[in-house]
Amino acid sequence: MTAKPLLERYQALLDMPAHTRSVSLQEGGTPLLPLPRLAEELGGGFELYAKVEGLNPTGSFKDRGMTAAVGEALGRGAKAVICASTGNTAASAAAYAARAGLRCIVLIPEGKVAAGKLAGALAYGAQVIQVSGSFDQALDLVVQLSQRQPVALVNSLNPHRLQGQKTAAFEIIEDLGRAPDWLCLPVGNAGNISAYWMGFRQYDQLHGSGLPRLLGVQAAGAAPLVHGAPVAQPETVATAIRIGAPARGEQALKAAEESGGRIIAAGDEEILAAQRRLAGEGLWVEPASAAGPAGLAAEVAAGRLDAQGGRVVLVCTGHGLKDPDIITGTLPPTPVIPAEFAALEALLAEE
Ligand code: F0G
Repeated sequence: MTAKPLLERYQALLDMPAHTRSVSLQEGGTPLLPLPRLAEELGGGFELYAKVEGLNPTGSFKDRGMTAAVGEALGRGAKAVICASTGNTAASAAAYAARAGLRCIVLIPEGKVAAGKLAGALAYGAQVIQVSGSFDQALDLVVQLSQRQPVALVNSLNPHRLQGQKTAAFEIIEDLGRAPDWLCLPVGNAGNISAYWMGFRQYDQLHGSGLPRLLGVQAAGAAPLVHGAPVAQPETVATAIRIGAPARGEQALKAAEESGGRIIAAGDEEILAAQRRLAGEGLWVEPASAAGPAGLAAEVAAGRLDAQGGRVVLVCTGHGLKDPDIITGTLPPTPVIPAEFAALEALLAEE
């Protein structure tokens, strides 16, 4: 089936320059998956859904913003795009640049990018440069370069990225008939939570669809918005959100506050437990995407989040296939048996 490009579908609601060209891989239109078993386990008396953003073309929500940012860059005559990335932005920028016929340069923190993301960026033909430093330092470098050279910056500092990303809020409202009571999502560089809030507010002003409270979740070792100060050496298994100085931090805090929600932190163990729990319902997400449900579980258990009789949406930002090593590296090796029926029966009898 041929779906309409995202920017075309929501053209009337997006503030994009007229010169923007269509650079689409048929992003968006992702499922809103009910999670009744997890909802019951959490015991909060609410309906629970996952917005499965890992089913976008390159496996993360970034594609929504990238169709906009790359389309705009192409339309104004850019020949190259650049970004710093913990991995998903890199893969997405690389794919959309390839689609548009543009050069793509990505800077990533050395050794801290999950295998599926690095491979993606390379497969789509980006020039990948590792920086001995953090994402935050890499972002500094690409901002400087984009100010001096004719290279379009496609990090979420680029406002067009947020225009594309806010479409996920529109889709959630359209699927549910109104905004959910809570929207729960991971926070890294803080572009996505800012984009969602923009989208929900816009739709509410036009159609009275209501507003969710936002529960943003950072990883405990990379939680500058919870501590109120940058983190010089962020550390977490959720490498996608291993960010110490979020570019849109202020905007994210304001969005959470305006919504009547908040930004909290979840520990790595809780994140990995939430990842296993979602996989137990058939939904494999990357660790960063499990920060949302980890935070939600903690808040409900502590009696700090009341959504009784309402609806909660978890934004599952990236596919589990992005980071296979986190699973295979933490579990015992799988058994090997000779190709004999007796050996198979004996092994299964052990359990
Ligand atoms: N989840 C995933 C899977 C991500 O890749 C990111 C960000 C986030 C959540 C957080 O979103 O930054 O808008 O608050 N990844 C960026 C990247 C930083 O480079 O791929 P945010």
